[in-house]
Amino acid sequence: MDLLEHTTVLVAGGAGFIGSNFVHRLLAPGRTVRALVLDALTYAGNLENHQALADDPRFHFVKGDIADPAAVAPLVEEADYVVNFAAETHVDRSIEDQSPLIRANIEGPLTLLNAAREHPVRRFIQVGTDEVYGEILGDPVDEEAPLKPRNPYSATKAGGDAMAQAYRATFGLPVVITRCSNNYGPYQYPEKMIPLFTTNAMDDRPLPVYGSGRNRRDWIHVADHCRALEAILTAPADRVEGEILNIAGGNEYDILEIAARILAALGKPESLVQHVTDRPGHDRRYALNASKLRERTGFEPEIDFDTGLLETVSWYASNRTWWERIKSGAFRDYYEKMYGNR
Ligand code: NAD
Ligand code: DAU
Repeated sequence: MDLLEHTTVLVAGGAGFIGSNFVHRLLAPGRTVRALVLDALTYAGNLENHQALADDPRFHFVKGDIADPAAVAPLVEEADYVVNFAAETHVDRSIEDQSPLIRANIEGPLTLLNAAREHPVRRFIQVGTDEVYGEILGDPVDEEAPLKPRNPYSATKAGGDAMAQAYRATFGLPVVITRCSNNYGPYQYPEKMIPLFTTNAMDDRPLPVYGSGRNRRDWIHVADHCRALEAILTAPADRVEGEILNIAGGNEYDILEIAARILAALGKPESLVQHVTDRPGHDRRYALNASKLRERTGFEPEIDFDTGLLETVSWYASNRTWWERIKSGAFRDYYEKMYGNR
């Protein structure tokens, strides 16, 4: 039974990496869900991510800013559920330029939450990140851990989380805050490590490894993240409402280990690895305890990392036009300004 049958889901930020994967999941063949996608189409938003759905009557796209009350109100009014993916998401950009962060990552959630006060919805998921806990050098942390964000991106994401929590406590909104580890998979903007390394390797260009290459992340396939979000959207209210839920893949690797796997998958030499200047304040490790999510919804990730990474590398190999268009345009100018022509 489809618990979202004949409902309308507002997917804010649905033209980005995870949001567009979520839209593909909602609009899988045979489902009766409607997806309203609100996205400002910043550099990271790309309508090609769901081009195949453009004429689908279940798909409705609106270009707009989540911090604009006039854009948001009519869509929240139409929606049964809100899932907010929209954000400025790249740590390096947030170190370089903080100007768009407050609007997208704090005012945006605030505006959506205010609209949901005016036009009640069944559930509101604020999609968040493990980075708000700061670097974790000991045991994986659960949802009770203190917030210690260490870069402008994660600091503003913590602000968005706090706003959602406040609207739960103050106005009783049916909010759930999620905090997920690093995603990988199709349609990820090639400024992020896995698609950057994959596409550079395919073109025999260096893989720029920050510092020692020993910084560690926990990786989850985007399809597993989207499945977790749907499990949260459809769980009984007393299991999830008002809760913070960590989402993790259980696949911890350092940068050099990932680089080696990508090079091996593509049959490219390890000499493409190039150590470059470290990211300022580079968090050494993130590690989450996600047992609460399993206990509340039964969710467990299904995609084995080796299989998921190979499928991802082959997706980028088969979709060269998609990423070449990005890397040859505005992204190239930004990347060359930040890192030189590597
Ligand atoms: P992304 O950068 O690929 O996509 C972000 C989308 O938000 C883009 O389509 C962009 O156009 C849109 N957007 C930005 N500002 C907007 C605004 N003011 N109004 C409307 N739309 C706006 O990001 P992603 O990797 O898909 O991340 C989605 C969400 O998941 C973010 O909230 C991020 O913090 C969170 N998250 C990401 C990861 C990860 O590994 N990628 C992990 C945990 C959490
Ligand atoms: O942990 C969740 C977060 O994961 C999300 O909240 C963010 O939106 C998302 O961008 C991601 O942040 P990271 O900073 O972990 O991802 P990124 O792909 O930028 O970097 C992953 C690791 O790879 C990190 O240790 C830095 C390193 N790196 C990254 C790039 C882009 C390199 O060594 N070289 C690079 O060129």
